[in-house]
Amino acid sequence: AQNERDSQYIVSNWAKDHYHRLLQNTEEGMGVGYAYLKERGLNLGTIQTFELGYSLDQWDDLLKSGEKAGYQLKYLEKTGLVIKREDDQGHDTGRRYDRFRGRVMFPIHNVSGRVVGFGARTLKRDDKMAKYLNSPESEIYHKSDVLYGLFQARQPIRQEELCYLVEGYLDVLSLHQGGIKNVVASSGTSLTEGQIRLIKRYTDNVTVLYDGDAAGIKASLRGIDLLLEGGLNVRVVLFPDGDDPDSYIRKVGDQRFAAYIENQSQDFIAFKTTLVAREASHDPVKKAEAIREVLQSIAKVPDGLKRQVFLQQTASVFGFDEQVIITEYNKLLKTAS
Ligand code: CTP
Ligand code: MN
Ligand code: MN
Ligand code: MN
Ligand code: MN
Repeated sequence: AQNERDSQYIVSNWAKDHYHRLLQNTEEGMGVGYAYLKERGLNLGTIQTFELGYSLDQWDDLLKSGEKAGYQLKYLEKTGLVIKREDDQGHDTGRRYDRFRGRVMFPIHNVSGRVVGFGARTLKRDDKMAKYLNSPESEIYHKSDVLYGLFQARQPIRQEELCYLVEGYLDVLSLHQGGIKNVVASSGTSLTEGQIRLIKRYTDNVTVLYDGDAAGIKASLRGIDLLLEGGLNVRVVLFPDGDDPDSYIRKVGDQRFAAYIENQSQDFIAFKTTLVAREASHDPVKKAEAIREVLQSIAKVPDGLKRQVFLQQTASVFGFDEQVIITEYNKLLKTAS
């Protein structure tokens, strides 16, 4: 099994180099792929650091090049780079084709820097094509145990004693290029316990920078509770609706972006409170709801002392006597169990 895995690492690494070469050394790669990345504001340094690439818009470039280079079809299939075409009955038709075609390629590294999979973005603007395609799960790629950018971010995270968590590939790349190098992406999948364990190896402090749309806010709320459960200290930055970290840093520039996340970062209590306040600040029903929301999150914090501090903070934010809050909290614990 070790040999099997090694063969998959080797073929993935070769594919990464192949896509990277295509981006820089072919007319199509330069004219379409590189042009797209440039238009998104990415420079050559970022392209090199993250080993970005391009897959040709053909059915079997990777398949043919891989076989020519001596790689077994078996491993191209196992890593999901090549797809086996089956008929309606599920029988092998003998036909094979590349999974990734005409896309910008984002290799996904594990913490030791080995390529385990790929994310791939279409260059087209219409909705007919999936915006992103990703490698399927394989013996070397478990998407719930990987954070995009962690390999490049792990030293900066240790140095800053903080990890910024974003949704997407472009968010990682734009922030890194803008000087914020302690950044990783959960890559669209809702944050998992495995990903949180990975972060915990490097720091106890996470600031969530999810997209400023309804989906991003929902994912933030869920992520906060999971991070709290994992014993991490959590802060959140809310972006204007319609912006994500990538679009926002492009809009306001590196300096103002850094100032924004510094000034706008809130602890989870303030964040949840702000959200509800945005909807209806003077509605007593909403206010009670907000308090319960916050108390629910506090219940996830494993450290008893921290819980106590958060309860005090909640009381003061909402202008209640601490004892009232603690009584509510205990009631909530009872109904929850
Ligand atoms: N994602 C995915 N498959 C999709 C859509 C999204 O895997 N069909 C993942 C990608 O990792 C993506 C992340 O979810 O980077 C966030 O999605 P989204 O915000 O829609 O994309 P962006 O990263 O903002 O990409 P872009 O700016 O290019 O639109
Ligand atoms: Mn290079
Ligand atoms: Mn999004
Ligand atoms: Mn986004
Ligand atoms: Mn985006």
